[in-house]
Amino acid sequence: MKIGIIGNGLMGSAIGYRLLERGFQIYLYNRTKERSNALVKKGAIRMDRPSMIGKECNFVIISVTDGQAVKEILFGDNGLVNCDNKLLTVVDTSTVLPEDSIYCASLMKKKGYAIIQAPIMGGPDATKKGDVITIVSGNKKISEKCRKILTNFSKKIFYVGNQDGVANYIKLGLNLNIALIAISLSESLVFIKKSKTDPSIFLEILNSTYFKTGLSEIKGPKMIKNNFEPKFFLKNMLKDIQLLNECAKHNGASLSFSSLAEQYYQMAANRGYSELDYTAILKLFNEFNNLPPSHQIK
Ligand SMILES: NC(=O)c1ccc[n+]([C@@H]2O[C@H](COP(=O)([O-])OP(=O)(O)OC[C@H]3O[C@@H](n4cnc5c(N)ncnc54)[C@H](OP(=O)(O)O)[C@@H]3O)[C@@H](O)[C@H]2O)c1
Repeated sequence: MKIGIIGNGLMGSAIGYRLLERGFQIYLYNRTKERSNALVKKGAIRMDRPSMIGKECNFVIISVTDGQAVKEILFGDNGLVNCDNKLLTVVDTSTVLPEDSIYCASLMKKKGYAIIQAPIMGGPDATKKGDVITIVSGNKKISEKCRKILTNFSKKIFYVGNQDGVANYIKLGLNLNIALIAISLSESLVFIKKSKTDPSIFLEILNSTYFKTGLSEIKGPKMIKNNFEPKFFLKNMLKDIQLLNECAKHNGASLSFSSLAEQYYQMAANRGYSELDYTAILKLFNEFNNLPPSHQIK
């Protein structure tokens, strides 16, 4: 079966690897052509425009940064809606504003195309292992049809209702949780380092308690070694907190820590950490405290 993947960044590429491995024929489009080179070498076919992907494939996954990018992919001059393939179903896995998803879904429906939202919890490594959680909203029948594809890289799929955009609210709420856990772990590590105590012992103990998190277990050991190889860019975490705060303004939620988190991730971005993993928020807290980047216990 042919599947199109539009957006071949960290996540789109990981989805591509997984689906190639599972025997699907993969068609790719990425704005910056070179970024899909690795997948092309593995056997995926590159196309020059989103509309060409829509002509070739009845099932297309989008994984791009934000709502503006999704709108360009769908409705731009060379966008998917120009594919003239009424069998096309689009699955948007990007983390975007719910409002943008609602807009895209309603315009797609008007133009006679099917689309659902399917934001993902879990990074590229988990995607390659088929180990992510996917949250789906939109038309129930279409969602059921898409489940057969999503199940190839998701260990669990939550269908959260036929109202477009609902999955996006849940995804933003989940990401705020991660952003705050990264800050909380960073402050604990600063405290431990300032106390001239070994952060690796601290982490080992934390990770043997009920209060461990996926972040403390998987990212913690890398954080204390100053390893911020990007799996989820800090700039994208900042984008997600900005989206959440924008939503909160509209729905009347007063979220003091998410406002603070936005400021801290913005400061980290201003210091040039955008292209690092979001856990590089620790670098910022280290700097506030005149601590060297990685732990050195004398
Ligand atoms: N990484 C994760 O752990 C993770 C997990 C769950 C969800 N997500 C979400 O999944 C989406 C993709 O994330 P990622 O980590 O793959 O990010 P990424 O590596 O930064 O890739 C972003 C992708 O979006 C494309 N893009 C951005 N603006 C565009 C535009 N105006 N027109 C066309 N394409 C555009 C980029 O194309 P270029 O290469 O040309 O810039 C690239 O393919 C984001 O919404 C992110 O929040 C990420």
